[in-house]
Amino acid sequence: MNLTLKIWRQKDAKSPGKMVTYPISNIEGHMSFLEMMDILNDELIEKGEEPVAFDHDCREGICGMCSMYINGEAHGPDRKVTTCQLHMRMFKDGETIHIEPFRANSFPVLKDLMVDRSAFDRIQQAGGYISVNTSGNTQDANSLPIPKADADLAMDAATCIGCGACVATCKNSSAMLFVSAKVSQYALLPQGQVEANDRVLNMVNQMDIEGFGNCTNTGACEVECPKGISLDNIARMNRELMKAKV
Ligand code: SF4
Ligand code: FES
Repeated sequence: MNLTLKIWRQKDAKSPGKMVTYPISNIEGHMSFLEMMDILNDELIEKGEEPVAFDHDCREGICGMCSMYINGEAHGPDRKVTTCQLHMRMFKDGETIHIEPFRANSFPVLKDLMVDRSAFDRIQQAGGYISVNTSGNTQDANSLPIPKADADLAMDAATCIGCGACVATCKNSSAMLFVSAKVSQYALLPQGQVEANDRVLNMVNQMDIEGFGNCTNTGACEVECPKGISLDNIARMNRELMKAKV
């Protein structure tokens, strides 16, 4: 395949950015999107030009680092895959592909396609954990029976990889899908009950401090989420929040 790439180039957080056009050829359908970006970067380095900066780590849909907005969609045109799992066979020979960083005020661009998602880390630090009593009398977690349906829902919520596609997709830059997944994975389990009230109050408070917008039930986040996190989690988080406030 021969393609035309239009890529957002931005020197650093303070510089203005712009779209730059790069032709690329001999791309195979079985290549991943990041492998195609690697080929482009090899060519740029050979020509003595600055390679395109983009985040990646696991390249198998686990770490949530590969934040790219491809042809107007977070993680590109496929469903339930991250950018690193996106195959080039999703594109046609001769196509022009627009590649931008995730856009949200709370995710400032650091360079090219890299954004700062440390706001998510601070929300997690505000309550996305359970404290463990290490007195020596701690009950074995496996001795607490959990209904299969609850365990399945908690596991589904825990598959959120914190990629930020939900924020980038939302017209309000809302982080509700991410935060609700993190709240739900504990709210559904007995181990999460002890700190449940503080958790939801503190995480929602931090979400607001970070400047994320509110949810207006559009549902775009659920469509673009690579892990299929359900909007039901947002409803659960709102119930948890109401309960904690009362
Ligand atoms: S809810 Fe989905 S889109 Fe949002 S951070 Fe988690 S995995 Fe990514
Ligand atoms: S590089 Fe880890 S999810 Fe894409």
